Amino acid sequence: MIMNTATGLICILACFYQAMGLKVTGYVGQSVVLKTRVDPSSVHLSRIQWSIYTNTSIIVVWDSGDLREPFWRHMGRLTLNISTGDLQIKNLRVDDSLTYTVSLLTETTDQTEIQFELVVQEHLSKPDIAVLFNSLVKDTCIIALRCSIAEAGITLSWAPPDGFDQPFWNSNNTNNSSELWTSIKPHTNISFTCNASDSNRKASSQKVVQCQEEEPKASPQFLRHRYGIIFALLFFCITILLFKVHAPPKAILHGGEKREAVTP
Ligand SMILES: *[C@@H]1O[C@H](CO)[C@@H](O)[C@H](O)[C@H]1NC(C)=O
Ligand SMILES: *[C@@H]1O[C@H](CO)[C@@H](O)[C@H](O)[C@H]1NC(C)=O
Ligand SMILES: *[C@@H]1O[C@H](CO)[C@@H](O)[C@H](O)[C@H]1NC(C)=O
Ligand SMILES: *[C@@H]1O[C@H](CO)[C@@H](O)[C@H](O)[C@H]1NC(C)=O
Ligand SMILES: *[C@@H]1O[C@H](CO)[C@@H](O)[C@H](O)[C@H]1NC(C)=O
Ligand SMILES: *[C@@H]1O[C@H](CO)[C@@H](O)[C@H](O)[C@H]1NC(C)=O
Ligand SMILES: *[C@@H]1O[C@H](CO)[C@@H](O)[C@H](O)[C@H]1NC(C)=O
Repeated sequence: MIMNTATGLICILACFYQAMGLKVTGYVGQSVVLKTRVDPSSVHLSRIQWSIYTNTSIIVVWDSGDLREPFWRHMGRLTLNISTGDLQIKNLRVDDSLTYTVSLLTETTDQTEIQFELVVQEHLSKPDIAVLFNSLVKDTCIIALRCSIAEAGITLSWAPPDGFDQPFWNSNNTNNSSELWTSIKPHTNISFTCNASDSNRKASSQKVVQCQEEEPKASPQFLRHRYGIIFALLFFCITILLFKVHAPPKAILHGGEKREAVTP
């Protein structure tokens, strides 16, 4: 009686999985477990067989105490849980993205099959950090940075260096990007970190920000002396004008004659 209930359960699960083609996501270098959701307290499995491709390449089979891995493809990377039929695949590679079929046999029932569609994703790429704004305003550098990533559904967050005591504001993660606004003191190099993550992956980038002081530093000097500079320029122009007005045209002609005289 107990077995029949269990069989019913396993059948419902199998039918559901078969209809759905259960999708599983894994990540390069990590491991994944393809779960049969068999409850070992009510179901006793007598044979477990995992296969790939068109159900002909058996990667692992457990049959009444005998465990074999006939097909080399996942050699050394598989762990079978013989009470649940769960299959762990370690050290995932992109080409592990295949359809996996498990055939489960209990002592009393016919074979049940469950299919899994495994997709192995690459590592999360590093986010990009761009400087939006960097300018010296009243002895403080106003800095704006944008962190962005070319993937959807990634959480981006900003981390200032340890001991950073300036207030900073960062925008919520929209459009795969997050902005940071803050201020830093002149003559400092500050390294800001942007962390990108989803439920399984992490990546981060750093940007060293320096206050762009050269150009703004030159400007106040120019401003301080601008009246002097303007006065000097005016004085120079006036002198030339006065010289031209008062100098007799003869002198210029005379100069011309002199030059002609030199040539022959
Ligand atoms: C998969 O293999 C098992 C055992 O080799 C067989 O009984 C079953 O019918 C096969 N299923 C499909 C869909 O080919
Ligand atoms: C098999 O899976 C069950 C349920 O997840 C767990 O309790 C058990 O420890 C596992 N056995 C092995 C050998 O990993
Ligand atoms: C955000 O990610 C999606 C999905 O990868 C992409 O199509 C889109 O171009 C990204 N947007 C930006 C601004 O990078
Ligand atoms: C960011 O999100 C929080 C909560 O989701 C919200 O209260 C806040 O106003 C948002 N800030 C901006 C700048 O959109
Ligand atoms: C999203 O990013 C793209 C490319 O950077 C930009 O053209 C677009 O205006 C952005 N949309 C929003 C809502 O910020
Ligand atoms: C900031 O970095 C630049 C180049 O990386 C270096 O020349 C300069 O000395 C650094 N300044 C400080 C205050 O660390
Ligand atoms: C950002 O990532 C670095 C390196 O992975 C980590 O040390 C740091 O704790 C992370 N910061 C946040 C706020 O998640």
